[in-house]
Amino acid sequence: MNDMQEQLRYLTACAVAREAGALIRKRFLERDDTLALQFKGPQDYLTETDGEAERLIAQRLAATFPDDGFFGEEGGGAYGPRAWVVDPIDGTSEFARGVPYFCLSIAFLLDGQAHIGVLYDPMRDELFAACRGRGATLNGQPIKVSTIDDVARSAVELGWSSRVPYERYATVHGRLHALGAGVKRRGSGALGLAYVAMGRQDAYCELHINAWDAAAAVLIVAEAGGWVNDFLTPECLAHGNCVIACTPALRAALEEAMDA
Ligand code: IPD
Repeated sequence: MNDMQEQLRYLTACAVAREAGALIRKRFLERDDTLALQFKGPQDYLTETDGEAERLIAQRLAATFPDDGFFGEEGGGAYGPRAWVVDPIDGTSEFARGVPYFCLSIAFLLDGQAHIGVLYDPMRDELFAACRGRGATLNGQPIKVSTIDDVARSAVELGWSSRVPYERYATVHGRLHALGAGVKRRGSGALGLAYVAMGRQDAYCELHINAWDAAAAVLIVAEAGGWVNDFLTPECLAHGNCVIACTPALRAALEEAMDA
């Protein structure tokens, strides 16, 4: 793929993220608190807006790049040598409960490697984006990870889900607490990673997260100068993986803490 083809995909992903984000924001603001909450599994929320936004993103990308593969959290799909990986709402539990903390995530993979990552938080109008080898931006301005190098002064977000036994998270949490880290948990792994990329926190870790949640975000962290584990493996595309993303100096402490 040449530079122009990649650039076209990058600009298209940014435009589609803003369009789908506007739809998600509208649905959030008009949501009806009396609607019954729906679940796909334990603590795994489902809203009609997830499917609606994913269909919009899929249609827009297919119209411009009909030969690219597409895989979405809600509708599935197929990976190929060129593939889009999409989470229409990361932080669905927050969206469903009326908390304005969620984003959409669009990644473009070439031969299994992320080349483009775009996240959009429609409630704050924040667009995080990266193209492999070209740095990361927030609303067009370059971003960098923080300079924190001491875990005792760090802010670390530890995500969790029912996909991993609670005891393993408790072990990691205990270790991070003992190291003096400020351990946090918000409701969107993708936004948590983006916050590492621009220095609002120093690390995001989770023992298991799916490819659609983090594929775009880990590229953004890496392009912002952060360290990220070997997340996007072929196994990850099928079943998810552990993710560790942090300032380079925190790597050793976090790898050890996460070995649970
Ligand atoms: C979830 C969120 C959450 C993370 C979970 C993800 P979803 O994604 O990113 O923060 O801890 O592992 O599954 O369900 O909101 O798309």
